[in-house]
This record gives sequence, structure tokens and C-alpha cells, in this order.
Amino acid sequence: QLNSLAVAAGLKYFGTAVGESAVSSDSAYMAIVNNKNELGQVVAENGQKWDATEPSRGSFSYTQGDIVPKVAKANGQYLRCHTLVWYSQLPSWVSSGSWTRATLQSVIETHISNVMGHYIGQCYAWDVVNEAIADDGTWRDSVFYKTFGTDYLALAFNAAKKADANTKLLVAYYNDYNLEYNGAKTDRAVELVGIVQKAGAPIDGVGFQAHLIVGSTPSRSSLTTVLKRFTALNVEVAYTELDIRHSSLPASASALVTQGNDFANVVGSCVDTTGCVGVTVWGFTDKYSWVPNTFSGAGDALIYDKNLVKKAAWTSISSVLAAK
Ligand code: G3I
Repeated sequence: QLNSLAVAAGLKYFGTAVGESAVSSDSAYMAIVNNKNELGQVVAENGQKWDATEPSRGSFSYTQGDIVPKVAKANGQYLRCHTLVWYSQLPSWVSSGSWTRATLQSVIETHISNVMGHYIGQCYAWDVVNEAIADDGTWRDSVFYKTFGTDYLALAFNAAKKADANTKLLVAYYNDYNLEYNGAKTDRAVELVGIVQKAGAPIDGVGFQAHLIVGSTPSRSSLTTVLKRFTALNVEVAYTELDIRHSSLPASASALVTQGNDFANVVGSCVDTTGCVGVTVWGFTDKYSWVPNTFSGAGDALIYDKNLVKKAAWTSISSVLAAK
């Protein structure tokens, strides 16, 4: 089972995102989620995001956000928490407000201290800042960047550490996608870690979302090279949202084998990198995935099929972990 194999291979966990609505509606799905030997870590797919936790200013709600942490607690699984400062799923009172630096700073600090305070002691890691960089390597033009330039990065990490001052357990992450290709976006993420560190703010980890494409996934050694650029900066790394989509469906038998090799390369690169703590798939079954809603015609990006049967990708991952 994947988490047991991952732990034996030296990782902290192999885990998954869990969609809030499936928790109460799909018992076959939950039987897999609740198997800690298979999935040693969970993360809420949507419930802890700003639009769910602070839909209007100063009014906090944790009904959705508590669903997956409760699962983690019942099963004794690691909980990754996602996410605090992100341009998307950001309520319009934040994204469309016209802010001075001082007011938006106070809004961010209030959000972080409330949400982190609610989950204190429960999260192994928080994605403190998510997706601050555009795919071409420029800074993403969010309300945060418009108001602060890059100063909001250190501001957010400082606020997170302050909220966690009593337990000091928190591993504070920067999290983004398309860092796997070692291009301009990756260079900018390296710069981001430096900016936060130079400002004296605590950043402990970089999350590689790894929303990848079958047949275009970098090799195990290229991926290892990229991970090591970050561990060289004294931060840990993890794959935080792994899925590898077929560009067209149905997938052929050979495409399913390629998908398995691609998954094995990603997981193998984590095993090969001291300081890579774990792998999280962004859902484990093709029954539920954000991919077809965003990339029309693409999908089947996960390791169990729509009937909750293990795919070739599952077997490839188990082999690469067992080989360690
Ligand atoms: O909850 C509402 C429901 O009430 C409504 O009837 C329905 C109609 O569209 O929408 C539901 O909300 C959807 C939500 O998922 C829950 O299913 C949103 O429209 C939809 O936009 C949202 O998509 C999520 C997406 O983030 C939004 O950006 C995906 O589930 C989630 O997997 C995805 O996750 C992100 C990570 O957080 C960050 N990295 C990229 C990753 C994939 O996009």
C-alpha cells in the first residue's frame, strides 16, 4: 500500500486531496481515504480557501474547512492545509477592493491569524502563499502584487509564524505549478525564496503542485535537479497536487503505461532527493478531478479509475517506492 511503501522508502507520507462533497456522499471512496496504509496524508480540496473561510470581511466560517481535518484526525493522518494568500477563490471584497498598503496588510494579517488560529496544532504544513508567479516567470498581477509589489510575500510568512508562535510546529510553504520544467518560472521561484529569506521571514518549504501531462513529464533526473535547486536553499520540498492528465480520451493501453512511467519518475525524484518529504496526489480517482472542467477533453489524470480500481500508474508508483 502506497503510504506504507513511501514511509519505508524514507518519505513522511503519500497522500491525497479530498473533495469535501465526497466525504459524506461516497462511502466506497471514503474506504480508501480512511486506509492510512494507502493514504497517510490528506488536504482539503477547497474548504480552507479564502472564499470559504472569510466570505465577507471579518466574518469567518469553518463549516467546509473542518470536513477534511476531521477525517485526518479520525485516521491519524498528516494534514496539509491549503491555502492562505492566493489570487483565486479569493472573495471579491478582497480582489476588487481598493486598498492602501496598511489596510490590506491588516486584512491579510487578520485572515491568517484567524484561519491558522482555528487549525492550530492540526496542520503539518500550510501553503501560506500560493501561485504568486505567472507561467512566463513574471510576478502574477494579483491585488496583492498590485498593492505591495513583492513585499506581501514576507508579510504573509511573518504573519503565519506569528500565528503559530506558541506551537512552532508549522512548516510554512510557497506552493506553485509548472516549477517542474526548470524554466523562467522556476528561476523566479528560486528568487522568491531568496526574497523572503532576505527579508528575515520564515519560509520552510516549496510545494511543487505537479499538474503534469502524459508524455510531457520531465525525466526522473531532471525533476531531481529541480528539487535540489530548492533544497540547496535550506527549504524542504514536496509534490503537493500531483496529477498527470491524458490530453485526449479515451487513453490507449500504451498511454496508460506512459502515464505510469511518468508517475514513477515524479515519485522517484522525491525518493532521490534528501529533503523531499512526500507526495500528494490531487485526488486519487478519475471519478473526481478538476481536470476535465478546466481542460476540455483531457483527464483520467489519477491513479485509480472511475470505478475505484487501481491503474497501471498505481503499480508503477508502488514499484518505484518498493525499489528504494
Ligand atoms: O461549491 C460550488 C457549488 O455550490 C456550485 O454549485 C458549483 C457550480 O459550479 O461550483 C462549486 O464550486 C466549485 C468548487 O471547485 C467545488 O467543486 C467551483 O466552481 C470550482 O471552481 C472549484 O474548482 C476548484 C479549483 O481549484 C478552483 O480554483 C477545484 O475543485 C480544485 O481542485 C482546484 O484546486 C487548485 C488548487 O487549489 C491550487 N492549484 C491548482 C488546483 C487545480 O486548479
